[in-house]
Amino acid sequence: MTEPEPPAVAALSLAETSTAPATKAIEQEINPWDVQAATDDQGNVLEFDYEAISKKWATKLIDAELLARFERVTGHKPHRWLRRGLFFSHRDLELILDTYEKQGDFLMYTGRGPSSDAMHIGHTIPFEFTKWLQEVFDVPLVIMLTDDEKFLFKEKLSQPEVYQFARDNAKDIISMGFDVKKTFMYIDSEFLSSGFNRHFSLNATEFEKLVTNNQVRGAFGFHGSTNIGSNAFAAKQCVAAFASSYPFIFGYDTKTYHRSAKLAAMPCLIPCAIDQDPYFRLVRENCNRMDQPSPKPALIHSKFLTALQGAGGKMSASNPNSAIFMSDSEKTVKNKINKHAFSGGQETLELHKELGGNPDIDVAYQYLTYFEDDDEKLVKFAEEYRKGEMLTGDMKKECIGMMSKYVKKFQEARAKVSDETLEEFLLPRKLEWKGNPKVERKVEVKEEGKEGGEEGTTMGEDGQPLTKNQMKKLAKAAEVERKKKEKEAAKAAQA
Ligand code: TRP
Repeated sequence: MTEPEPPAVAALSLAETSTAPATKAIEQEINPWDVQAATDDQGNVLEFDYEAISKKWATKLIDAELLARFERVTGHKPHRWLRRGLFFSHRDLELILDTYEKQGDFLMYTGRGPSSDAMHIGHTIPFEFTKWLQEVFDVPLVIMLTDDEKFLFKEKLSQPEVYQFARDNAKDIISMGFDVKKTFMYIDSEFLSSGFNRHFSLNATEFEKLVTNNQVRGAFGFHGSTNIGSNAFAAKQCVAAFASSYPFIFGYDTKTYHRSAKLAAMPCLIPCAIDQDPYFRLVRENCNRMDQPSPKPALIHSKFLTALQGAGGKMSASNPNSAIFMSDSEKTVKNKINKHAFSGGQETLELHKELGGNPDIDVAYQYLTYFEDDDEKLVKFAEEYRKGEMLTGDMKKECIGMMSKYVKKFQEARAKVSDETLEEFLLPRKLEWKGNPKVERKVEVKEEGKEGGEEGTTMGEDGQPLTKNQMKKLAKAAEVERKKKEKEAAKAAQA
């Protein structure tokens, strides 16, 4: 998910800013490249107003009724991030539940822009949630790593840099426990120049023709001096939601010119942070205009995670003290929370015992709400904190325990992710999943009619199915090609 720049004044506490001269209040800004909380006329950073953004963009808030239906249809209690509103908004989630009830499966799609090699908990949570959803629905998932996007949008980053970030981030994402049989992950600069991308490219070109400069300007605030790569990039992030972009996942012919209308018609669900919504509005507005129309992808949106400094702040890869990073040692986790986590407690112990604290603005408590699954325990903590029976130090201790456990588990898994594991995820191949066990699958997972061969095969240029070995060879050739390009790029960067 995206990594917007840190708000310039997020780290300032109320006390530090209240003496500042009165300035004009600034509204919150949320778009794929810039996320800033509002500030009041004293320059104080305010909390994000998620209801306002949902209203402005006409998304639907996730309510109790939808969650009840989710539980009925899937047989799973909604994840705590749904129950507690971290994933708070959606588009057409009901239709995904309809699909799951009637035809059993659909495609899931998410991604990350690799702008740094330092992933923090704010980056991992959306993937943890995606993994949970994938397990609940048992559907295929694609994870797009947009090194091209970060290169185009970040003035300072070179191609070899973003590519390396993408590979490192991919390993971090794998560490969260995705099932390689059900998950295809790709780095744009690799996949989009491989032998497997014909249908993706055809979709992208077709989509580019449907969208005018004025439309992307409207959606993203581009202007005349925006580079042309940025203008075109949106099409890639959009068509990545079409199952027809990945025929090999479904065992369909990769080499033929013709895309599959059946695959195009497959629904898609995209978990993402709310700032990515402008991209997907674009695909929702144009998907039915494709020659082989696709249904509007459904979305489920998350809020931003609170920075250690408190509400209105955002975790940022460029500010080590704003977040718990997945590479932090146990000691660092402890120090960061003790030193930097904004406290909702009182100035002194006496005052705290007398007046009680405020868990709603207490970052240690907020982090516990992200990770502690036991609802009752949380209610108890909040009550005791308000009464002044639970102290700031106690809350932080609970938080440190929980966070250390999360980070440690990640690091142990990360140590096991080798280059080979990464290549397995990056290899274009047929995926295996079961969908809804209660319904018969409607989307065929095999070759199409005449053009196809045996189930689970990919066709070669001569119309013969490729064997597994040949597939591997092709992938290897792509890998060699990639390494060559990488070297050339590194050389060019030095020159
Ligand atoms: N643009 C996203 C980012 O900067 C990356 C991305 C691509 C993505 N496809 C996605 C994010 C789908 C969420 C869902 O992080």
